[in-house]
Amino acid sequence: MKYCLILIVLCISSFALGDDDFYTIEDLLKEDFSDVIEAEVEDDQKWLVPQFDGSLKWMTEQEAKDQTIKTEIVEQIKWAINHFSNKRRKVRFLLFTQKNPVKWQEIDMDRPETLERSNFNASHPTRIFSHGWLGGVHHDLNTQLVDAHLQNGRKENYNVILVDWSCWAMTVNYYFARLRTRKAGKRTAELIDFLHEKTGMPFETTYVYGHSLGAHVAGFTGKQVTKGKIKTIIGLDSAMPLFRLKNPQNRIADTDAEYVESMHTNGQVLGFYNPIGQAAFYPNGGRSQPDCGFSPFNCSHGRAVTYLAEAIARGNKNSFDTVTCDEFKDVKARNCSKSSGGVKMGDPDNFKKAKGVYFLETNEKSPFGIGDQYFKKITRIFVIVM
Ligand SMILES: *[C@@H]1O[C@H](CO)[C@@H](O)[C@H](O)[C@H]1NC(C)=O
Ligand SMILES: *[C@@H]1O[C@H](CO)[C@@H](O)[C@H](O)[C@H]1NC(C)=O
Ligand SMILES: *[C@@H]1O[C@H](CO)[C@@H](O)[C@H](O)[C@H]1NC(C)=O
Repeated sequence: MKYCLILIVLCISSFALGDDDFYTIEDLLKEDFSDVIEAEVEDDQKWLVPQFDGSLKWMTEQEAKDQTIKTEIVEQIKWAINHFSNKRRKVRFLLFTQKNPVKWQEIDMDRPETLERSNFNASHPTRIFSHGWLGGVHHDLNTQLVDAHLQNGRKENYNVILVDWSCWAMTVNYYFARLRTRKAGKRTAELIDFLHEKTGMPFETTYVYGHSLGAHVAGFTGKQVTKGKIKTIIGLDSAMPLFRLKNPQNRIADTDAEYVESMHTNGQVLGFYNPIGQAAFYPNGGRSQPDCGFSPFNCSHGRAVTYLAEAIARGNKNSFDTVTCDEFKDVKARNCSKSSGGVKMGDPDNFKKAKGVYFLETNEKSPFGIGDQYFKKITRIFVIVM
């Protein structure tokens, strides 16, 4: 059976040879795994670590690391069968603008002419998005976010750049992808410095978003830029497994940009539950989202991206009204009722006004925003109680 699989893999890899952009089995065999072998294990805390078969398994960091080192050959077989057409040789940066909202232009720092020939325009705001584990180029969540900026009749122009780090995110081993978020962030930081130098792109109008493991890529980007400080970073249900609250230098953190915001939709399962930005948003309490089904991998985790996409697409009609919570523990108790003074989840101007912990309810289906209904409801309860 094993040899049969290897044979299939070899056949598949020979099909892939036509495009030198694709990662091949030969690349994998040549790849340097010394960073994996040498990676430090912080402590023996146990985590629910996502497994490739869709389950979650209690493991220490050491066990996750050992699994990664041991399953290399199995990994390449499974990966090749499931994802061979999605994994690229290196981190790629794919630009979408109002002139090319569907078909990307790759910006390759090794070939500066790709930037000169592209539709990148430093006068327009730049938005950079990093996908999560197993989220290659064609993932639906990427499309949602690109379309939110550039489609649906929107006239505003943006440079929307998708960070395709499938070279490290497309792997059976969550541990491996998690380990390389820092490196993916480093590449993205280099891109930002490069764009700033070559085009004068202002840091002031540059936002970086990331989903799940991609949220940490966004954080590591902010930590590693050298020519300025990113204006806004948004962590969308930032991955929790194998990241520690107590260790902000190893995860997305509130000092990675001038303003960092976190959105929590599957807290304590796949996502962080504690606030990790200057402002933290807890739609429906931040643990699970309505109408998402009851399997452990339901849509709750991805909803953070969908909510942000809706907020951006609706612009000044954003209807993710919020209330303020005094403390994080009030989110758990649903004890949040103070007016937030008009702060809305996903508002690009939140850097001017949002600080602390916010709660909101949403609809089960799109459009998810419910406006000020939640606020009205709690005021009504308050009036009845009085
Ligand atoms: C860049 O955008 C500005 C503002 O929209 C516009 O005036 C300018 O012509 C654009 N530059 C190029 C090269 O398209
Ligand atoms: C979805 O999955 C999460 C765990 O990932 C679970 O807590 C929640 O109850 C599930 N159901 C719904 C409706 O979100
Ligand atoms: C709810 O929040 C208020 C402050 O806004 C606090 O005084 C009260 O103790 C909280 N109640 C619970 C159950 O946490």
